[in-house]
Amino acid sequence: MKSIVLFGPPGAGKGTQAQRIMNSTGLPQVSTGDMLRAAVSAGTETGVKAKSFMDAGELVPDDVIIDLIKDRIKQPDAVNGVMFDGFPRTIPQAEALSEICEVSHVIAIEVPDSKIVERICGRFTCADCSAVFHDTFKPTKVLNKCDSCDSSNFKRRADDNESTVLSRLNAYHEQTSPLADWYKSRNIFYPFNGDRPIDEITTDILSVLQ
Ligand code: AP5
Repeated sequence: MKSIVLFGPPGAGKGTQAQRIMNSTGLPQVSTGDMLRAAVSAGTETGVKAKSFMDAGELVPDDVIIDLIKDRIKQPDAVNGVMFDGFPRTIPQAEALSEICEVSHVIAIEVPDSKIVERICGRFTCADCSAVFHDTFKPTKVLNKCDSCDSSNFKRRADDNESTVLSRLNAYHEQTSPLADWYKSRNIFYPFNGDRPIDEITTDILSVLQ
């Protein structure tokens, strides 16, 4: 199977949908944001280079990201394709990707800017299994217990505050949204209204991936 790209602004629901698509397609999720946060926590050279950009809500330089992806897709679980979440985010990243991997679908989740701050500032994730929740839109079914693994260990991201979200949105509009036309011209761009219930969006996405 070829690879899939999940595309959209911060907080559009890329990570939320990735977990569901992964369960249906078996494609592993490759999230550059998760990989960078792991590198920052581990204090690696990549993490040191990335941290100040992430804290400011700016994009990490293309060469750092492209090296991360080249290493990741050499892993055995990537042999039948992967689901990229948050990559590519610039035209140079998309060009580099086209040289190393064939993309069959770019799944674009579209959400108006006016909804993004509320979505991101209410987000929390399970520290043990990474399931994504929201204070209002997707609370845990049982208070303080993860729906997926029963853990009571949750975390919030350092960059999920209002001023950083506005910088992330700005980076999205200036540097990432031009990629939509780049992929439309290649006839692999599939837009979805992301301002709807989570299950409805999953059903629509899975229908084009059959
Ligand atoms: P990254 O971690 O990729 O963050 P992001 O793109 O800003 O996206 P998010 O993870 O914030 O949102 P999401 O779309 O996954 O939404 P989610 O499903 O969690 O990047 C972080 C930073 O790393 C960047 O700023 C940059 O510095 C750097 N970086 C990463 N990749 C890079 C790259 N390729 N190049 C350069 N730099 C890079 O949902 C959000 C919330 O909404 C959740 O609480 C969820 O429960 C809720 N929700 C989801 N769907 C719905 C719905 N339909 N209705 C209501 N609520 C919903």
